[in-house]
Amino acid sequence: MNREDYNAIARYVFDICGIVLGDDKQYLVEQRISPVLPDLGCASFSDLANKLNLGGINFLVREKVLNAITTNETSFFRDEHPYVAFKEKIMPDMLERAKERKDRPWTRRGAKVSMWSVAASTGQEPYSMAMIISDVINQRGMGLVLMEDFGILGTDISSKVLAKAMEGKYGPLEVARGLTQDMRNRHFVKDGDFFVINDKIRKIVEFKAFNIQDSFVQIGSFDVIFCRNILIYFSDDAKRKILSQFYQILAPGGYLLLGSAENMYNLNNDFAPERYGATTIYRKHA
Ligand SMILES: C[S@@+](CC[C@H](N)C(=O)[O-])C[C@H]1O[C@@H](n2cnc3c(N)ncnc32)[C@H](O)[C@@H]1O
Repeated sequence: MNREDYNAIARYVFDICGIVLGDDKQYLVEQRISPVLPDLGCASFSDLANKLNLGGINFLVREKVLNAITTNETSFFRDEHPYVAFKEKIMPDMLERAKERKDRPWTRRGAKVSMWSVAASTGQEPYSMAMIISDVINQRGMGLVLMEDFGILGTDISSKVLAKAMEGKYGPLEVARGLTQDMRNRHFVKDGDFFVINDKIRKIVEFKAFNIQDSFVQIGSFDVIFCRNILIYFSDDAKRKILSQFYQILAPGGYLLLGSAENMYNLNNDFAPERYGATTIYRKHA
């Protein structure tokens, strides 16, 4: 692929999803796009670059490029420590919120404690959150607080990973990453060699397509946001815009967790960072 073709593809990717492909990503782009070139109706990278330069790209081409170019790496309880913070620091507050909202029955539908997994990929992140919610409710024997008092929205831009997330079916290697045998037994049902998320977990998690570069006006309001391992792909301007929108849609005292390699340095001063173990929890003022 020559430099001009690369620039045309990188520009297109930036326009559709905000991912910044620097000068050193040529090899990665070649590796990921070449298998789908025939599906895109292109015989070469130059063909694709010409098509993109002409504009008027149809939905199918956009989907195929997005599915090929995004990095969807994930695992259950990825990095472990954010989930410890979620369980020990955030969940006690969420149980209180759930109880308080139940005491105000007139708020009914909007009363759920709501959480958002912004870049949910194949679903391991929102399902890990739901497993913790289920375990905490069972361990505490809270009586009044139930699974259905919680709702988790998982979003991603890639239709391919969302389809897998919705299916909630994982192979032996995927469940071996991050899950103990006991968790597998409690939260999954076996289907041949595969493990399928059980109904109790599944019923509080819903998925939908969402481009995080778009306005958040329609997305709702949340008590907890997990936005992990996605901001690293964006420009500082895009990060600023996204973080300030998170601040707006979080409930007072709400929590935001970023990936281990991500932080708000030079990007946002609204949130109050709090350390819990190895995790930085960003809080909206109450
Ligand atoms: C590396 S995965 C992170 C998965 C999970 N959050 C974790 O930490 O394990 C990044 C995900 O971000 C998604 N993504 C990339 N650009 C996006 C955008 N503009 N809007 C929404 N999702 C996007 C990709 O499709 C990919 O599934």
